[in-house]
Amino acid sequence: MRAMETLPEKRYSAGMNYRHAFHAGNFADVLKHCVLALCLEHLKSKPKPFRVIDTHAGIGGYDLASSEAARSPEWKDGIGRLLNADLPEAAAGALAPYLDVVRALNPDGMRHYPGSPEISARLSRADDRIHLCELHEADAKTLDDRYRRDARVKVERRDGYKALKSLLPPKEKRGLVLIDPPFEDRDELAHMAEAVNGAFGQWPTGTYIFWRSLKNLWAADRFDNGLAEWLIAEKGIEPEKILRADLWVRDLASEGKLAGAGVVVINPPFTLEEKLLGLMPWLADTLAQGDGYGWRVDGGLTDEDVEEGLEE
Ligand SMILES: C[S@@+](CC[C@H](N)C(=O)[O-])C[C@H]1O[C@@H](n2cnc3c(N)ncnc32)[C@H](O)[C@@H]1O
Repeated sequence: MRAMETLPEKRYSAGMNYRHAFHAGNFADVLKHCVLALCLEHLKSKPKPFRVIDTHAGIGGYDLASSEAARSPEWKDGIGRLLNADLPEAAAGALAPYLDVVRALNPDGMRHYPGSPEISARLSRADDRIHLCELHEADAKTLDDRYRRDARVKVERRDGYKALKSLLPPKEKRGLVLIDPPFEDRDELAHMAEAVNGAFGQWPTGTYIFWRSLKNLWAADRFDNGLAEWLIAEKGIEPEKILRADLWVRDLASEGKLAGAGVVVINPPFTLEEKLLGLMPWLADTLAQGDGYGWRVDGGLTDEDVEEGLEE
């Protein structure tokens, strides 16, 4: 971020091919949505209303019996392994807000998986507000139809990166931004960095959750490192205000499907690190798909942490 290159304007050709329905409920969604739910629960601990801004919202909820989900049932190795698991106390506490939402949607067996908008909608109160951006035309329509009758939710068919700056600061002054792009573009990490570079100064007290894959561990670490360095050096943020949580379900060097992913959170709730430290050892064991699986949680991310070893 310190020496950020100027990127060409992000363009969207016909190729917005990413369909989250193929991946809904997989291990990466489990971690991301658990963190989102914990952040929302923390926001709810104070009576003042908050705002959620979800820059890459998807369609809000996923039918696991749909042809996409049935063709690629990644959820079975994600949320599918959690619902009937025997949860140790620390894991149960950390997963509770997320699993409560999943269970409420599925009283008779797993069929409906909540996307980030649905988790936000179900964990928000009457005075809280939710702003959803989704660029894909059909997905934006599906999303709009889903929340048309919910006055708390506004859906825009818009580039979430471009929208972000204009949406900050929200009038509530409290809340969170979720940036969860599809990573179809090889410059996606740079676009995320550019978005936070433009937005953070306008709302330095908001919580920001960035999702990124670990397909290229070096690139992910470079993003984390650059973000931490920039926030600490340029914005005066304390290292404690930057948290990273990653999970990989098999060796990151293995070929094939996504093996690892995680989140970087700026201004996390002070309780988040402890909760994730209680959860992650159990979650990694439970969601493992092969040798070499593991996790890491760095609360107070600094340059030095970034290059340090992995937990397993
Ligand atoms: C990973 S999915 C989002 C999943 C969702 N956040 C969830 O957790 O349920 C990424 C979404 O971003 C959309 N998208 C891609 N580029 C976008 C952009 N620049 N602005 C807004 N949405 C975009 C895609 O169509 C896709 O639905």
